[in-house]
Amino acid sequence: MQIEPFYKRLSIMLSICCMMTIYSFGQSKINTASIQSKMQWFADAKLGIFIHAGIYAVDGIDESWSFHNKKISYANYMKQLNGFTLKNYQPAAWADLIKASGAKYAVITTKHHDGVAMYDTKMNQLSIVKATPAKKDMIQPFFEELRKRDIKAGAYFSLIDWSHPDYPGFLTDSARYQVKNDYDRWNRFRHFFQGQIKEISQRFNPDLWWFDGDWEHSAEEWESEKIRQMILANNPKAIINGRLQGYGDYATPEQNFPVSRPATPWWELCMTTNDNWGFHHDNNWKTPYEVITIFVDAVANGGNLLLDMGPLEDGSIPKEQIHVLKELGAWNQRNGEAIFNTIGGIPQGHYYGPTTLSKDSTILYLFVHGKNQGQLMIKGLDNQIKSISVLGSNAQLSHKIVGKISWSHVPGLVYIPMPETLLDPYVTVIKVSLEKPIKLYRGQGGFQ
Ligand code: GLC
Repeated sequence: MQIEPFYKRLSIMLSICCMMTIYSFGQSKINTASIQSKMQWFADAKLGIFIHAGIYAVDGIDESWSFHNKKISYANYMKQLNGFTLKNYQPAAWADLIKASGAKYAVITTKHHDGVAMYDTKMNQLSIVKATPAKKDMIQPFFEELRKRDIKAGAYFSLIDWSHPDYPGFLTDSARYQVKNDYDRWNRFRHFFQGQIKEISQRFNPDLWWFDGDWEHSAEEWESEKIRQMILANNPKAIINGRLQGYGDYATPEQNFPVSRPATPWWELCMTTNDNWGFHHDNNWKTPYEVITIFVDAVANGGNLLLDMGPLEDGSIPKEQIHVLKELGAWNQRNGEAIFNTIGGIPQGHYYGPTTLSKDSTILYLFVHGKNQGQLMIKGLDNQIKSISVLGSNAQLSHKIVGKISWSHVPGLVYIPMPETLLDPYVTVIKVSLEKPIKLYRGQGGFQ
């Protein structure tokens, strides 16, 4: 790819930012250059589906937090074990739905903060296999179905385990003990949770690890570096999220949308479809339009979206989530060229909306929200345009260069008429093919 001056500057800026990232995202200890090649599928994937499956679906209450925050007693929370049946669990149908959404990876809870393992752990008795009527492992069959469809399989694992008698934390205002006062007890817990990580690693070999809850202890206490090495010894290509006290590969902003582009090479916005991770009785569903515009915004800013669903206790998926995933999938069918295998777009200000670029930077994709009418405008585009078309149709669009002054090096404005009849119901994508890799004028017009 031909690197134009703007991109040279951008790549220098990005490398400075990457170094800064090391401090701004969880004090990362990982050298980003050394993980570049294993991160490529993740960078290209753009969309993952998060699944919070757990006994909290029985009553439809906050996952784990409900007893920790004393909304329900621990005993009553645990009664939900008796109602977790999975009697309609169809991992193949789940994987079909995920495939249809366009997602390239999925991440499922193998154990949440409540300590209930969703597979047959040998480390204790607290699993859906041994302690619920479901009596089966959810993970293995799901991973198999994902892999049959070429979808990467990720394991969410909570480091926190508020049920384990040797874990210090329990309720929000009470703990069992302090690590510094009882290292033997803490060591017993370390043996336990690291044993579970080893089981998951050896039995399911996740492509991606999604740790959670690292904030309760330091890297030294968790032995984060050792955990990382243990995982990589089994699978050197495994990707590890950034919640391992500095020993993860990428950042995971949660439910919070970046306004300016994050200065980190890989990041993933994890987001619920309503307001909760697990199945819950809240009805604040995001609409397909909202989900699609948020997804586009994440990708345009160089990130991924990990969109969550929370299945019911019988293993079925709420119809509202199915609807969102199907609409998102249909939109990806029409417009996925502008999303998958692309890179984040041009800096804000050149076009009033999100953009992405082909990897060689010769195609600029413009995203147009809703029923936009009139003309689009691009500022500072210092390239010859080869053609402009609308994704999902073969329609070619015209354009007009406005205000190009013969004696000035400042590019004219590009105006593109919007075809009302070709608008996507959610977000339309305009494909601008350039003669050469994109070159942007970033100056201040007459002031320089
Ligand atoms: C938070 C919560 C947890 C949830 C996770 C998903 O860390 O503790 O309940 O699973 O976010 O990102």
